[in-house]
Amino acid sequence: MTQYILALDQGTTSSRAILFDHSGHIAGCAAQEFPQHFPQPGWVEHDPNEIWNSQITVARKVLHEHQVDPRQVRAIGIANQRETTVVWDRKTGEPIAPAIVWQDRRTADYCEELRAAGKAKMICDATGLELDAYFSATKVRWILDHVPGARERARKGALCFGTIDSWLAWKLCGVHVTDVSNASRTMLFNIHLMRWDADLLHLFDIPEEMLPQVVSSSEEVGTTREALFGHAIPVAGIAGDQQAATFGQACHQPGMVKNTYGTGCFMLMHAGRHPRTSHNRLLSTVGWRVDGATEYMLEGSVFMGGATVQWLRDGLGIIQQSSEVEALANSVPDSGGVFLVPAFVGLGAPHWDPYARGTIVGLTRGSNKAHIARAAVESIAYQSAELLAAMQKDAAMPVTEVRADGGAARNDMLMQFQSDLLGVPVLRPKVTETTALGAAYLAGLAVGFWESQEEIATQWACERKFTPNMGGDQRSELLAKWNRATERAKAWET
Ligand code: G3P
Repeated sequence: MTQYILALDQGTTSSRAILFDHSGHIAGCAAQEFPQHFPQPGWVEHDPNEIWNSQITVARKVLHEHQVDPRQVRAIGIANQRETTVVWDRKTGEPIAPAIVWQDRRTADYCEELRAAGKAKMICDATGLELDAYFSATKVRWILDHVPGARERARKGALCFGTIDSWLAWKLCGVHVTDVSNASRTMLFNIHLMRWDADLLHLFDIPEEMLPQVVSSSEEVGTTREALFGHAIPVAGIAGDQQAATFGQACHQPGMVKNTYGTGCFMLMHAGRHPRTSHNRLLSTVGWRVDGATEYMLEGSVFMGGATVQWLRDGLGIIQQSSEVEALANSVPDSGGVFLVPAFVGLGAPHWDPYARGTIVGLTRGSNKAHIARAAVESIAYQSAELLAAMQKDAAMPVTEVRADGGAARNDMLMQFQSDLLGVPVLRPKVTETTALGAAYLAGLAVGFWESQEEIATQWACERKFTPNMGGDQRSELLAKWNRATERAKAWET
């Protein structure tokens, strides 16, 4: 009987379950969107039970549709939207509040207070992160401050905090764990000592009793409850989705770079076995720990990538489906001087401005929806170009190529424009579900389904290479205009 690894890719807007065979090929896939809740401007919430229900539904569905017996699944790997914060009751398993999503800005003012109190450096020194509402720490604190009695219950060990990996592992196996890559996104984890940081727990007034146990990215953490699949399957790999994608892109060597075009855009560079301090406002973060060895990344995070195209669809209604954007954007030769800065939830790296807001500049009487669509697609590439520029400055060596993945990487126009702006080739692999693939690899390595990272690296194959086709002058002119547009978006919501 053929054996598989089942990857659960719990993203910001959808839950996916993908079966991989031993050659790293997709044997089946099921996906389901789940509701987004925006109770106030700047707030983004999920219902943890809706996340769980959608995830277990697609996991069962992919097995059923492809007639795979649960006994054929050697292990499950989890990749998840990071930072999103859940607090639940240890006894009942019920969340005590909605999950606060990574995009949520409600704690931005509190972050400013901490900055004014001079705390940014100690936070960055310990965690490698910018002081920003993006990360979990201020979200946990917000829940403890706003749910009556929560902090007291947390002190007594009656509550659990976790990012989405913890929540899924809890629901799947009844264990309270998180892997090192997810821990490194909480702003509570010391990435040098590889443990929860007592000073930060004190600063945020978060009781240690509510924290999950930190585990490796590739190890068996438990087996699924019998009732879920009718057979206990080991959960053997966990990583934040961006780190998982980096692993799935086989960026195992220092200097290798991938960019994922998902809800946001996340560019990660392998930085080796020690944290690399950024001098250009990138994040220094844990990639994974496999076989006792921790590998670190430099990361640039852009909050609105493919979500900008969703806004064209759901907010403006100028396309019916996201896939229509390429044809609309291609119906004009360029954006006609229109620039769209998608700072809908503020700006991430390298600006870190929670008060920036979405801006369109350069409109003329001749501008139409095609120009706006093109500007929206191009904004994804401009933001990624800013990340690579920062990375090039931080890196010891020049970046010679970028591996691309995620939904919007299917857009040829975007990939070509990206390569033009970066001035380096952009490589699209045959398997663009690299987030799920990375989670599968991590789980598969733990149970001996794959032997080594070297074996995995040989499975990576390029589907198409986009090479730069733009003169340096034009590139500089466009980037200068983009910078001007970005400046106009900044500090709007003061
Ligand atoms: O840090 C947030 C990130 O993990 C979300 O990823 O794929 O849901 O956009 P995605």
